[in-house]
Amino acid sequence: MAMIEWNESLSVNVAEIDRQHRQLIDMVNDLNAAMLEGKGRDVLGLILKGLVDYAGTHFHTEERYFLRFGYPEAGAHQKAHAEFVAKVSDFQKGLAADRAGLSVDVLLFLSDWWRQHILVVDKKYGPFFNAKGLR
Ligand SMILES: [Fe+2]
Ligand SMILES: [Fe+2]
Repeated sequence: MAMIEWNESLSVNVAEIDRQHRQLIDMVNDLNAAMLEGKGRDVLGLILKGLVDYAGTHFHTEERYFLRFGYPEAGAHQKAHAEFVAKVSDFQKGLAADRAGLSVDVLLFLSDWWRQHILVVDKKYGPFFNAKGLR
């Protein structure tokens, strides 16, 4: 079963960003599936790296629009992105140092973080972006 499922309630009403969110959710689910299949640390590390890289691309997309449109909540939002990057970097270090694989806690953190961030933080910019003509 998927850790996190994309549905319309997660839409921010901007097609490009919804597409990226779907991709990120797929990547969290892929990581979960690989963990459940007992894939080794190296494989998990690679999938996690793919997720981190794509999250960086995605944050950059959002932050570029913040700048372009003068989004008033950009500061707090970018801080949330930076906290995510720092936290996941700790997971990556732990994974590299430890002989064990990923813990369930890491997967729960990732699925909860994305769900909450999209629902609460990202959704706030939807109407603002739409008013600037972005859909
Ligand atoms: Fe986002
Ligand atoms: Fe965001």
